[in-house]
Amino acid sequence: MEILHVSAECYPVAKAGGLGDVVGALPKYQNLLGHVAKVVMPMYRTKFLYTNDWEVVHKGGSSLGYSWFEYTVIKEKNNKLGFDLYLIDINGLLDREKVYGYDDDTERFTSFQIAVVDWLAQWQHKPDVVHVHDHHTGLIPFMMQHCYAYHHLKNIPSVITIHNAQYQGWMGWDKAHYIPTWDGWKWGQLDWQDAINPLASGIKCAWKVTTVSRSYLDELKYMSNGLEDLFEFEKGKCSGILNGIDTAVWDPQTDSYLDNHYTVATAAAGKLANKEILCKQFNLAIDKPLIVFIGRLVGEKAADLLPQAIGDSLYYIGQKMNFLVLGSGEPAVEQQLESMRGSLMGYYNSQIGYNEKLSHHMYAGADFLLMPSRVEPCGLNQMYAMRYGTVPIVRRTGGLRDTVKDIGEINGYGVCFNNAAVGEITNAIYRAVTLYEDAKKMQAITEQLMNLDFSWETSAQQYIEVYQSLR
Ligand code: ADP
Ligand code: GLC
Repeated sequence: MEILHVSAECYPVAKAGGLGDVVGALPKYQNLLGHVAKVVMPMYRTKFLYTNDWEVVHKGGSSLGYSWFEYTVIKEKNNKLGFDLYLIDINGLLDREKVYGYDDDTERFTSFQIAVVDWLAQWQHKPDVVHVHDHHTGLIPFMMQHCYAYHHLKNIPSVITIHNAQYQGWMGWDKAHYIPTWDGWKWGQLDWQDAINPLASGIKCAWKVTTVSRSYLDELKYMSNGLEDLFEFEKGKCSGILNGIDTAVWDPQTDSYLDNHYTVATAAAGKLANKEILCKQFNLAIDKPLIVFIGRLVGEKAADLLPQAIGDSLYYIGQKMNFLVLGSGEPAVEQQLESMRGSLMGYYNSQIGYNEKLSHHMYAGADFLLMPSRVEPCGLNQMYAMRYGTVPIVRRTGGLRDTVKDIGEINGYGVCFNNAAVGEITNAIYRAVTLYEDAKKMQAITEQLMNLDFSWETSAQQYIEVYQSLR
């Protein structure tokens, strides 16, 4: 089958979170299964653009409301990522360094989507399925079906994957003219609660909807930032497919970011060597369990609970463990995490910002990875941690529930708790410290974790089955 993935992120071209990792890996594994998967994304000004070879494959123009824009599609020449990669350039809108966070994101992503559909309309040989990801590409199924200029695309099946339903891309009806002339009777396919809602529109118009874990799909019916009734109504076309991890990138034996590689057999020494570097860099003690957090410092990740949970753990359990936090996000949380460094020196440290290399080092060198998420559609961090022999401490939600089994259960290998509350996090940390003190058990769990299989093969095939059901 030929699949065109459309996304705002794709690792290593541009990544803000797990969406980038997924779109950088899934197409590669679909190709390995004998299909032809391609990716199209915006042409941001990132390092990948300047360090690779490109050819122009198409030039076109369209309008965003009353303003005309021209776009150029370029293709990476050497199949560097294991799939055909296309970037769309729109001067003045997409030519930025960051993926998100600009005042005109609505205009940026709407014009990107228009350019994708406009370009697709001109392909002679059409893909078998268009697979869009999250709200930044959620208007594409509508445009393929209800914009007059693109009517001939309406028989191409579309699939939307929801990586995160918290963000929906809402825009006022005053922007309805941005979308190329469309059948006005179909306004209900764009609308949710009196606004144009690209995510809701994607759910309504795509032929199939997938989410990135089964538990998250269940949760969306009662907790999806206003879309609960829609998920209930559309449940017949929804399915949950767990993400995999790219084991070619995330492998402690070959990881190019690591100075000390290791296998299951050499995990104890390898992890210790990586921990030593971290402890030295961040002024922490090598003989204490190292508990790390890596991620966006936002409410969904319960990052606001970290300062008190860390403080309480050190106070109530005693100074038996060390903490290291890497992340960026809400300024108040960033500031709190920074200001704690002085009073908890020697037991706690943090690096505010995004740092791919350090994150790999932390997965490798830590003993535990903490994820107290309030919402976690899938979560990749816990799977990376486990592949690197690091024990996950997670709240039972979404993909965390589906991937981590508590040490209290038969063959369990993680520490789980039910609520995103400081007391429960502290108690989970207490359980983790107790586990660490049992060196034999800790070593057995490290080995067990590294042997778990979170590779993409099964999930990539499940997506193919979804596409095939649409033929
Ligand atoms: P989300 O997409 O919700 O942020 P995921 O667990 O799916 O969560 O994926 C997060 C990805 O982003 C992982 O690859 C993680 O290592 C990475 N990441 C998050 N924050 C940082 C950071 N500050 N520095 C480096 N990598 C980060
Ligand atoms: C989102 C979710 C995260 C998921 C990722 C990739 O950003 O928050 O849980 O792992 O997408 O699907």
